[in-house]
Amino acid sequence: MGGLIFITILFWNSLLFLSPSSSHPLCTDSRAPFNATTPLAFCPYNGTVCCDSAADLLLQKQYKAMNISDLGCASLLKWVLCSRCDQFSAELFRINSVPRPVPVLCNSTVSADYSQSNQARDNFCGKVWDTCQNVSIMSSPFAASLQGQTGQPVNSNFSKLTDFWQSKADFCLAFGGASLDDAVCFDGGPVTLNKTDAPSPPSGMCLEKIGNGSYLSMAPHPDGSGRAFFSNQPGKIWLATIPKEGSGGTLVLDESNPFLDLTDEVHFDTEFGMMSIAFHPNFTQNGRFFASFNCDKVKWPRCVGRCSCNSDVNCDPSKLPADNGAQPCQYQSVVAEFTVNGNSAKPLEVRRIFTMGLPFTSHHGGQILFGPADGYLYFMMGDGGGTGDPFNFAQNKKSLLGKIIRLDVDNIPSAAEITQLGLWGNYSIPQDNPYVEDTQLQPEIWALGLRNPWRCSFDSERSSYFMCADVGQDLYEEVDLITKDGNYGWRAYEGPYPYSPAQSLGGNNISVNSSTLIFPVMGYNHTDVNKNEGSASITGGYFYRSTTDPCMYGSYLFADLYATAIWAGIETPENSGNFTATQISFSCAHDSPIPCSIVPGNSLPALGYIFSFGEDNNKDIFLLTSSGVYRVVRPSRCNYACAKENATAFVTPSPGSSSSSQTSRFGPSNISVILCSSLLLLLLSFFLV
Ligand SMILES: *[C@@H]1O[C@H](CO)[C@@H](O)[C@H](O)[C@H]1NC(C)=O
Ligand SMILES: *[C@@H]1O[C@H](CO)[C@@H](O)[C@H](O)[C@H]1NC(C)=O
Ligand SMILES: *[C@@H]1O[C@H](CO)[C@@H](O)[C@H](O)[C@H]1NC(C)=O
Ligand SMILES: *[C@@H]1O[C@H](CO)[C@@H](O)[C@H](O)[C@H]1NC(C)=O
Ligand SMILES: *[C@@H]1O[C@H](CO)[C@@H](O)[C@H](O)[C@H]1NC(C)=O
Ligand SMILES: *[C@@H]1O[C@H](CO)[C@@H](O)[C@H](O)[C@H]1NC(C)=O
Ligand SMILES: *[C@@H]1O[C@H](CO)[C@@H](O)[C@H](O)[C@H]1NC(C)=O
Ligand SMILES: *[C@@H]1O[C@H](CO)[C@@H](O)[C@H](O)[C@H]1NC(C)=O
Ligand SMILES: *[C@@H]1O[C@H](CO)[C@@H](O)[C@H](O)[C@H]1NC(C)=O
Ligand SMILES: *[C@@H]1O[C@H](CO)[C@@H](O)[C@H](O)[C@H]1NC(C)=O
Ligand SMILES: *[C@@H]1O[C@H](CO)[C@@H](O)[C@H](O)[C@H]1NC(C)=O
Ligand SMILES: *[C@@H]1O[C@H](CO)[C@@H](O)[C@H](O)[C@H]1NC(C)=O
Repeated sequence: MGGLIFITILFWNSLLFLSPSSSHPLCTDSRAPFNATTPLAFCPYNGTVCCDSAADLLLQKQYKAMNISDLGCASLLKWVLCSRCDQFSAELFRINSVPRPVPVLCNSTVSADYSQSNQARDNFCGKVWDTCQNVSIMSSPFAASLQGQTGQPVNSNFSKLTDFWQSKADFCLAFGGASLDDAVCFDGGPVTLNKTDAPSPPSGMCLEKIGNGSYLSMAPHPDGSGRAFFSNQPGKIWLATIPKEGSGGTLVLDESNPFLDLTDEVHFDTEFGMMSIAFHPNFTQNGRFFASFNCDKVKWPRCVGRCSCNSDVNCDPSKLPADNGAQPCQYQSVVAEFTVNGNSAKPLEVRRIFTMGLPFTSHHGGQILFGPADGYLYFMMGDGGGTGDPFNFAQNKKSLLGKIIRLDVDNIPSAAEITQLGLWGNYSIPQDNPYVEDTQLQPEIWALGLRNPWRCSFDSERSSYFMCADVGQDLYEEVDLITKDGNYGWRAYEGPYPYSPAQSLGGNNISVNSSTLIFPVMGYNHTDVNKNEGSASITGGYFYRSTTDPCMYGSYLFADLYATAIWAGIETPENSGNFTATQISFSCAHDSPIPCSIVPGNSLPALGYIFSFGEDNNKDIFLLTSSGVYRVVRPSRCNYACAKENATAFVTPSPGSSSSSQTSRFGPSNISVILCSSLLLLLLSFFLV
């Protein structure tokens, strides 16, 4: 029965590979822009920029080398070159598609996303043509584009635009672009976003309970079917079928028949266990998947890795303070690769990707995620524990603690290379990891300065929005927008507040310049949630991208572990990276398949601890809590007002609404797929455990 649905959705899913778009302020090197401490000498950009004085000087040299005699044209091309310093330069140069030597020049049709005061800059592309077409330019960046280059042209000849393009239309076909689909274009000055459309937060989050089990991690089946893998902290993974919204069904999962059982290898305790699972983007072809867990080297011989407390980071394991009676680095963080083998009953570990000994018993993150745009494996690692990061590991670029780690698991080097490079397992280093530019960094590091990243996600519609919640110490829980080489401040800062460690046990003496730090985009004070003597601990969620609750679409959802509060983060203007978090009410649908318990004394559903969020192939959002699995459903089921809900054609208040949304969009194509489905079913059944 599941087979037909599975095949049709498999096809549908292949249509979902949208070209990634991005827009929050980001530089062409994928880094976050920074505040210019002194105004740039050459380029007329100030405030938050992508150029330091060295980059500014290079642009000045490039400008002089063009030797443009016409003053009008020279001034326009100065702006074109200097647009690399714009805080949106990644978007102007479209680094997510084919990178360009010149930014996308706003074309005549463009005005929608630009403020009225910039009306005069409309058709900047046409203006460049009109002003520069007959002007000789040496090493013209426009000519460079013909050579398929992104930097300066190799030849140093003079050329005119008319040498290569017949007309304004030709020229603007090559360089012009509209400000469509959230993308920006260059109109002769700093990018400004349309500030008029301010979305409002949803009036509430309506939940239905579909399972009783307690899980830490959920991963949709990469085949696009209505199924997902769920893992629990003790170390089991199950494959479950998710009921359609409104069907009244619950999660279909055979408790006694896990997909994988690692409970003999996993060390399970308060902050230890199976932390995360991730499926290779090509899982349906290669059967590769990954589990991140903790192990105890005293109990399992294969639990062997280098200790993260070592001489490189001025940490002496023999002097590590005792923590819950454990030996130094007795517990390890492991990422292991498994394969679904058609012939074997259960998956087997085929390769150890990563193993690292932990200094204390807390703060070791553990989530693993494949980047949707780059296919690399991201591994979130906390500061290793001990109050206030006593060894200052998170700021230490020689330590992998307190970091976002980025690994290439598709190119495994030889054992000799792994030893030579000093890697922590079987992976290679992506060539654009930031250590190439920052030689102080360990090559695995993508971002630093985190305390205990507890649940990160990529926006499924904008892959550059990589959000991580980072658990705070005494005052503040934060959400960070992770960028390459970004330093998120811990332990010099806890959220926006300077932090003074209670103890310093050693480590490297690292000074932190606050101007190089990236502060949270959202967060909350402990005093906002612990009014009843409880604690606070953030659990990061997802950008809501399902059509099920149209009023929640585009909000970034996150919660406090203690389930006293859930927030929706709204970005205004859209694509600005400027977020405002609003606490939203939540309740349980009266017709929930499994009735929700209610917290005695108030009307909140008794969720227990909110461990994680999950997202399925329909982009529906789930809460994984100590009391069960909850799905975000249509707001009307909880009597939350949402005018958009009934106006949305493909959300029908009948059983199977979520799948009817697919067929109404892509319906006719399904028929031919059904015809060959039985053959595919035979082939693919090897992977259907
Ligand atoms: C930045 O430059 C603009 C003009 O280009 C100017 O109006 C503004 O005051 C400058 N801002 C700062 C902070 O220098
Ligand atoms: C720049 O142009 C001027 C004339 O406009 C010419 O005299 C000079 O030689 C040129 N410089 C180079 C490096 O070609
Ligand atoms: C900004 O966006 C709104 C809504 O999309 C649109 O109606 C308005 O015309 C835009 N404003 C400008 C100045 O382009
Ligand atoms: C450029 O040259 C063309 C052809 O000689 C001429 O028609 C046009 O007016 C010139 N444009 C400018 C801006 O000088
Ligand atoms: C200059 O242009 C000519 C003709 O297009 C070409 O043959 C020559 O190689 C170019 N010079 C350089 C240095 O690229
Ligand atoms: C830019 O405008 C010209 C007409 O002025 C048009 O021919 C061209 O297709 C447009 N280019 C883009 C990328 O929109
Ligand atoms: C979940 O637990 C409730 C209460 O114990 C029970 O009535 C229900 O049958 C369970 N549902 C499932 C799907 O396990
Ligand atoms: C995934 O599969 C596609 C198509 O089979 C292939 O082109 C691609 O190289 C594969 N990618 C990886 C990372 O294995
Ligand atoms: C950068 O400038 C913005 C706006 O002036 C300010 O809000 C922010 O705190 C500054 N960041 C740093 C790291 O100084
Ligand atoms: C946190 O508390 C501080 C001071 O008590 C206050 O200034 C700040 O606005 C609060 N921040 C949030 C996000 O509530
Ligand atoms: C950020 O969002 C807030 C709240 O919506 C808004 O008032 C403010 O103007 C925005 N800031 C910027 C720089 O757009
Ligand atoms: C939407 O439709 C449902 C079912 O027909 C109804 O219960 C609900 O009140 C409607 N919601 C709104 C906002 O009109």
